[in-house]
Amino acid sequence: MADRQRPMDPVLSDAARDALLAVAEAALLNAYAPYSGLRVGAAVLTGRGVSHAGCNVENRAYPLGGCAEHHAIAAAVLAEGPGLRLRAVAIVARDVDDHPVPIPPCGGCRQRLLEFGDDLAVIFLGRDGVIATHAIRDLLPASFELPPSSGLSSSASRR
Ligand code: THU
Repeated sequence: MADRQRPMDPVLSDAARDALLAVAEAALLNAYAPYSGLRVGAAVLTGRGVSHAGCNVENRAYPLGGCAEHHAIAAAVLAEGPGLRLRAVAIVARDVDDHPVPIPPCGGCRQRLLEFGDDLAVIFLGRDGVIATHAIRDLLPASFELPPSSGLSSSASRR
C-alpha cells in the first residue's frame, strides 16, 4: 500500500476520538432516512474544541436529500461563523436492522470538509471493519481548487 493511503497517525487522543464518535452516534438517532434506510450521523470538532452534529435528511424527491456531514458543517458554521476551522469529523451509519455499517464519506462531502480543514482527521468505519482515522488530503488527493486566474481564493471570504 502506498504511503499516502495509510491511515494517518492519530491526531486525537483515543478519548477525544471516542467522544466524537459518541456525538455522531447520538445524531444518527434523529436521522430521517425512510427511503434508503441508511441512518448516518456526523460530528465535527472545531478549532475551538467544540463539537457539532448532523444527520442525513432525505426527501421523497430523492436528489433533495442531504448528507450528515453537510448538516454538521452547517451547524458549525452557524455557531462559529465564516472563520470556522475543523480539526476532525467522525461519521457513523446504521442499516435498517440497526447494525453499524461502513461509511466512507461521499466525494461531495470530502470536498465540503476540506474547505474548512486542510489537515482534517476523518474517522469512520472502513470496509475492512476497522474504525480508522484518515487525513482528508489522502481521501481527496485531487481536490477542486479555484484557479488563480479567477481572482478568487478559498480564503477570500474568511473573517
Ligand atoms: N449519506 C450521508 O449522510 N453521508 C455520506 O457521506 C454518504 C451518504 C446519506 C445520504 C442518504 O440519505 C443515505 O446516506 C444513502 O445514500
